Amino acid sequence: MCGIVAYIGHREACPIILKGLKRLEYRGYDSAGVALLTPEKNLNIYKKSGKVSDLETSIEGKDLHANTGMGHTRWATHGVPNDVNAHPHLSGSGEFAIIHNGIIENYASLKQALIKRGHEFKSDTDTEVLIHLIEEVYKNNDLGFEEAVRMALTQVIGAYAIVILSKQDPNYLIGAKKGSPMVIGVGENEHFIASDATPIVEYTRNVIYLHDGEIAIIKGTELTIKTIDNTIKTPYIQELEINLESIEKGGYEHFMLKEIYEQPRSILDSFRGRTHINDAMIAMAGIDKFEDKLKNVKRIIIIGCGTSWHAGLVGEYLFEDFARIPVEVEYASEFRYRNPVLDESDFVIAISQSGETADTLAALELAKSKGATIFGICNVVGSSIPRFTDAGAYTHAGPEIGVASTKAFTAQVTALILMALSIGQKRGTLSSQRLRELLIELETIPSKVERTLATDPLVKIIAEEFKNSTNALYLGRGYGFPIALEGALKLKEISYIHAEGYPAAEMKHGPIALIDEAMPVVVIATQHSYYEKVISNIQEVKARKGRVIAIATEGDEEIKNHADYVIYIPPCEESMLPLLATIPLQLLSYHIAVMRECNVDQPRNLAKSVTVE
Ligand code: M6R
Repeated sequence: MCGIVAYIGHREACPIILKGLKRLEYRGYDSAGVALLTPEKNLNIYKKSGKVSDLETSIEGKDLHANTGMGHTRWATHGVPNDVNAHPHLSGSGEFAIIHNGIIENYASLKQALIKRGHEFKSDTDTEVLIHLIEEVYKNNDLGFEEAVRMALTQVIGAYAIVILSKQDPNYLIGAKKGSPMVIGVGENEHFIASDATPIVEYTRNVIYLHDGEIAIIKGTELTIKTIDNTIKTPYIQELEINLESIEKGGYEHFMLKEIYEQPRSILDSFRGRTHINDAMIAMAGIDKFEDKLKNVKRIIIIGCGTSWHAGLVGEYLFEDFARIPVEVEYASEFRYRNPVLDESDFVIAISQSGETADTLAALELAKSKGATIFGICNVVGSSIPRFTDAGAYTHAGPEIGVASTKAFTAQVTALILMALSIGQKRGTLSSQRLRELLIELETIPSKVERTLATDPLVKIIAEEFKNSTNALYLGRGYGFPIALEGALKLKEISYIHAEGYPAAEMKHGPIALIDEAMPVVVIATQHSYYEKVISNIQEVKARKGRVIAIATEGDEEIKNHADYVIYIPPCEESMLPLLATIPLQLLSYHIAVMRECNVDQPRNLAKSVTVE
């Protein structure tokens, strides 16, 4: 949560920071603020509750000249979203300013102690406590700026990506990271700091991903990286892979719509180069590395949150079907606080688009501490989870900016398909012939996704019909069940309509009581193994006057006799159904949200990467 951007160099800082904040707004949009430090040591802080555009309007005509500065877009944790709690925050004397992404867990005890020593606080944030602490350490110990930051951080428990500036020295910027992401852009006599590379990419392609426990000290044009215990590190500069086009809307009204339409490509990119049909083989370095272990593994545990957890459920079916391995799928937030039975024989897979989700990372830490092998399926290159795991597979969805996950989900499912097939082959539970057939089918999926996207006009008509609903049910069986969960999550998170996903057969054990003529029921009713059973479930809904929207297989005329609306998708192997059936559900949520005038890309109360508990 929260996005941070900072700049020090020869350009005007403010436009770079504001543009960067807009790119990071997916991380939180409760308030925004900037601190601008002029060469004459004037520190101007402007902050405003609401979006970056509200901040922009509020600073029109103000003094914005500065070559050093930093900005923040907030997802509120401590303190309501208002102007006072907005970042940047100042130290007691106003000498130091800070922006922060993360949570200082021991802020309450630190704050109490500081209050006893005479500190007065303006905001309710944990961040203000930290900058007061830094100033106190600075003053009491007669330390330099850098030393004071380092010493103060040793007292902090929690997660942070912070940038601090000192009014006395406009050529000085300090960044530090633990648990929250931080990227440093290295330009020609200029430096950038940000939560991810999107604010940096148009100025330089050279970046350094700071590691936990590292501090970046930028003095003039010089960058030094140290650990918190004062050891100098040699920075590893890498070249950015993302391009500007991939982080802009490219003519679409919303990022979410663009990302839905990118799926033929993002699915293709997630298997391209890994499949070798003629040799009946899948090349995944992370899986090959653990071939011996996977041949004999007794169970796999998949952990994730939200949409990534839904992908994990699809993974469960895939690993059971093709590799005959028992699988447990766990919410990371629950797993981390239980006392799970785990040991060196376990293989744990974390799924995360951002690679930064705090609960998933903590669950992995727990698994690692018990000796399990940990594997990551992540989309953001260089993020915390891939750096922490023993091995992994990147999904190649490209940057996903819309808060509602779309193309990342189908890319995760693609990676899971490859993993299940590859492990199945290694274990001898999947023949080369069958593997070849499945790979041939996978190759057809991008064009089938294109065909599925062509249902958009019909989906829009259905959205118009149901846009004022207050509830919705999503039903599916087998591979259709995680899709039902995912469809319901999409609807609730962006249109604020209450929606529930259920295994279709579970409906009669409770949810059926909700069904009346006002209840839209979306049913995954494709011609796969559960077809007849699902048709029976549809009839049960119709008998109670529910309104059925069926996702069905092209050519199925029979279903028209049962459903009010039918959205056809191309026939496919059952295991690949999630890659197609998800698409109309994404479109349905999107259109309903647009019709309800909701903020599709930045739904209320949410943030793209949840880096707090
Ligand atoms: O970055 P991650 O995949 O770890 O994020 C997990 C969830 O926060 C995420 O999937 C969330 O549920 C999305 N908003 C769903 O669209």
